[in-house]
Amino acid sequence: MKIVTVNASASYDVLIENGLLQNCKDYLAPFVSGKTAAIVSDDRVAPLYLKGVKEQLEDLGCKVVSFVFPNGEKSKTIETYGEILGFLAQNGLTRRDVIIALGGGVVGDMAGFAAATYLRGVDYIQIPTTLLSMVDSSVGGKTAIDLPAGKNLVGAFYQPKLVLCDPQTLSTLPQEIFADGMAEVIKYGMICDEGLLSILKEGVSGRIDEIIFRCVAIKRDIVSRDERETGERKLLNFGHSIGHAVEKCSNFEISHGRCVGIGMAILTRSFVNRGLCEKACETALEELLKQYHLDDSCDFSADQLVSAMGADKKRMGKAIDLIIPTGLGKTAIEKTPMDALYAIVFAGL
Ligand code: GLY
Repeated sequence: MKIVTVNASASYDVLIENGLLQNCKDYLAPFVSGKTAAIVSDDRVAPLYLKGVKEQLEDLGCKVVSFVFPNGEKSKTIETYGEILGFLAQNGLTRRDVIIALGGGVVGDMAGFAAATYLRGVDYIQIPTTLLSMVDSSVGGKTAIDLPAGKNLVGAFYQPKLVLCDPQTLSTLPQEIFADGMAEVIKYGMICDEGLLSILKEGVSGRIDEIIFRCVAIKRDIVSRDERETGERKLLNFGHSIGHAVEKCSNFEISHGRCVGIGMAILTRSFVNRGLCEKACETALEELLKQYHLDDSCDFSADQLVSAMGADKKRMGKAIDLIIPTGLGKTAIEKTPMDALYAIVFAGL
C-alpha cells in the first residue's frame, strides 16, 4: 500500500491500493465504528460500489444511510446541496457522526461542503472513484458547489479525515472519464514535474497507482505549505481559469478535465506565440493531450471566454492570478489585469 500523509490544518492519510474498497473496513474503523455513516454518492457510482461499502460499515456497527443524486456537474447546485443537508437532518446525523463521499469530483465537492457546513462541521471521508478525484479533488480540502454565475463560487476549505483510493475502480470508468483525470495528471507534470511528463509520454499502463501516488505527493507538498491558496497552491489552477470559462460557455456539457486540458493548451500557445515560453512546452503538452484523448482547442471565441472569466472566483478586483508556463515542467503565478485577458486568450486560440 502507498500512503501519503497530508499535514495541513488537519493531518490525514491518503491510502492508495488496488482492491482497497473490498476491505476498506479495516481502514475506516477508527473513524466510523459505532457511528451513523451517511454515504453520499451518485447514480453512476452507487450501483457499482455502494452496497459493498455499506455492508462493511454495517460490519463495524454503523447505522448507514445513503443519499444518491444524478451524476454530473449539473447536480452541483445549491438545490442538491440543500437536499443533502435536509437528508442529514432527517436522519438525525449528529456532530459525532460521519459523511462518506463515494464517487468522483462532484460527489466529493458536494459531500465535503455539506460536511463543512452541516452542524458547523462534521467529519468526512473521501472515497474517490475517478482518476480526477484521486489525483486532485479528494485531497487538499477544497469543497464547493456551483452557482448559475460560475463554478465553485460557494465553498470551504475543509480537510477530510481519510482518503481511500482504490485504482481498481478505474477499470469501470468510461474512457472519456478516465481521460478527464489524465488532464489533471498532465497538469501536475506541466506545473512542476518534468519527469512525470516523460513517464506519461511512455504510457500509463501498469503504472497508474505510481502516478496517482506521485500526483498526490505533489499536492501534499503544495497544500502543506499553502493550504488556503494565498500563494503557491494557485499553481494547481494551471489551465483552470480558461478551463472554467470553457466549461461555463459549454453549459457544463464539456467535462472539467477536458476543459482544463483546453485551458492549458490555449494559455501555453498564447505564451509561445508571444515569444514568452519555449515551443517545446506547447509541443509536449499538445502531444500528451492527443495521446490521452483530450482536446487542445474549443469553438468559443476570445470574447465569450473572457466574459465567462469575469465570474472566476480567482479574480481579485481588476486582476486575476494566471498560472503561466515558463518552461517544461515549470510554471509561475502572474497577476494579470482583466483588460489584458482578451489579448492573451486571443493569441492562444
Ligand atoms: N484543484 C486545485 C486545488 O485543489 O487547489
